[in-house]
Amino acid sequence: MTESLLSIRDLEVSYGAVQVLFGIGLEVRAGEIVSIIGPNGAGKSTVIKAVVGLVPAQSGCIVFAGRDITNLPAHAVPALGIGYVPQGRIVFAQMTVADNLEMGAFLQKDARKRRAAVQTVFERFPRLYERRSQPAGKLSGGEQQMLAIGRALMLNPRLVILDEPSLGLSPKYVDLIFEQLLALRDQGRTLLMVEQNAARALELSDRGYALELGHNRFADTGAKLLANADVRRMYLGGV
Ligand SMILES: Nc1ncnc2c1ncn2[C@@H]1O[C@H](COP(=O)(O)OP(=O)(O)OP(=O)(O)O)[C@@H](O)[C@H]1O
Ligand SMILES: [Mg+2]
Repeated sequence: MTESLLSIRDLEVSYGAVQVLFGIGLEVRAGEIVSIIGPNGAGKSTVIKAVVGLVPAQSGCIVFAGRDITNLPAHAVPALGIGYVPQGRIVFAQMTVADNLEMGAFLQKDARKRRAAVQTVFERFPRLYERRSQPAGKLSGGEQQMLAIGRALMLNPRLVILDEPSLGLSPKYVDLIFEQLLALRDQGRTLLMVEQNAARALELSDRGYALELGHNRFADTGAKLLANADVRRMYLGGV
């Protein structure tokens, strides 16, 4: 079995006095797409935020590529080879599409390499190239999500973490985003995502984790989770 690229053990997180994660465990092996599913408030985003240093782990450990990254500050995470696409398509609205992408490579001091990375994103998303000089705030929701993903790819990360990449997008863009996720995996990247579109996410995931009130509830291959009657009833609308 391939060694884990990302390994989360016994993760506990609290916001103030309120504990929201209780002993969460999760493994992502190199080359996999792994999804975290669960109802609103289950703690999905919090798991991701702990990995990228946006919330502190109270206990437990997070290991990436053999290195303990528990409670590393968020600013140190991109250089590790982890790209993060936050929930809600956060882009710099006043800045152009091209400048937004450049921001994703602020660690890359070589301007030529930075521009080459922007070109690579434009090849992946031709629509962003067409709109490269426009302020990001003028883009449609689907285009902003492409931009947020493109920005996370600028430093050529091994692991891309996406929080609700399809949330609020029109069906056309949902298809496009999911196609892009598969393309990223086929190009050798590893993906960890949270998705409210749980059935769709599990269809393309190698494995998935279902959370309930901050606890691990189910963990299995995407196909087995989709076939599991309890998972279907609890997480997939009972169909
Ligand atoms: N900054 C915060 N301060 C206090 N409580 C928070 C904060 N962020 C999240 N919570 C609480 O922690 C719990 C887990 O939230 P989290 O955002 O991780 O859930 P989620 O599964 O991503 O939900 P959603 O599907 O709504 O995005 C919820 O009860 C939420 O209200
Ligand atoms: Mg969330």
